[in-house]
Amino acid sequence: MRKKIVAGNWKMNMTLDDGLAFAESIEKYYKDKPSPAAEVIICTPFIHLAGVAVLLKNGKVKFGAQNCASEASGAYTGEVSAAMIKSTGAQYVIIGHSERRTYYHEDDSLLNCKTRLALDNGLKVIFCCGEIKEEREALKHHEVVRKQLHEGLFSLSADEIKNIVIAYEPVWAIGTGLTATPDQAQEMHNFIRKLTEEKYGSNVADDLTILYGGSCKPSNAAEIFSKPDVDGGLIGGASLKLEDFTAIVEAV
Ligand code: PGA
Repeated sequence: MRKKIVAGNWKMNMTLDDGLAFAESIEKYYKDKPSPAAEVIICTPFIHLAGVAVLLKNGKVKFGAQNCASEASGAYTGEVSAAMIKSTGAQYVIIGHSERRTYYHEDDSLLNCKTRLALDNGLKVIFCCGEIKEEREALKHHEVVRKQLHEGLFSLSADEIKNIVIAYEPVWAIGTGLTATPDQAQEMHNFIRKLTEEKYGSNVADDLTILYGGSCKPSNAAEIFSKPDVDGGLIGGASLKLEDFTAIVEAV
């Protein structure tokens, strides 16, 4: 059964106090409610993980990081390893977000190392892909996404890929207020599912959760999520306000 997911990506927002207060309020929000139709995840900065773990323990909301190191351990000043993330109790890590690809020059082979380390340490991976505006205008978006998946992800075994969630995030829609139309999202999600089917077969492809990300908000979420290959969202800006984030979860 394909899982629906709504994951919040806080990016570099929230002080420790603000983040813990958010975690506490989202835990309270779902506490006495029936389980939401989607798995709810918050992906926080590293500094919040251990504190959030305490607040969300045994609750309905899962949590994860937004990145991990490409090496297992050792003399890598400033880095945080997959094993360290796992040791906080986190279940997920985002890998390959376009902001990491662009600002920190993370390429497909590096992202493949990070993904492998995350899986080896028992984390599930939200693996991001997506084209920039010029690539879509030049009708290269399929080619771009195909390369990102083949080089970043498709060296994994069929068993490993079961611990991957793919997030399609057209870069031109991230934080810009521009959203892919529901049809554009569906078309690319279907393409991603077909690529997965070619590589791993239809059972794996049918079970793969594919999230949409890029200016998803309460006012457009239901329409995007109504598409058959859209299994939820990776939410940036709108994940920072409890009211907006929970409204997006309800749109599932
Ligand atoms: P946005 O970000 O919702 O603010 O566009 C999405 C993301 O980058 O994951």
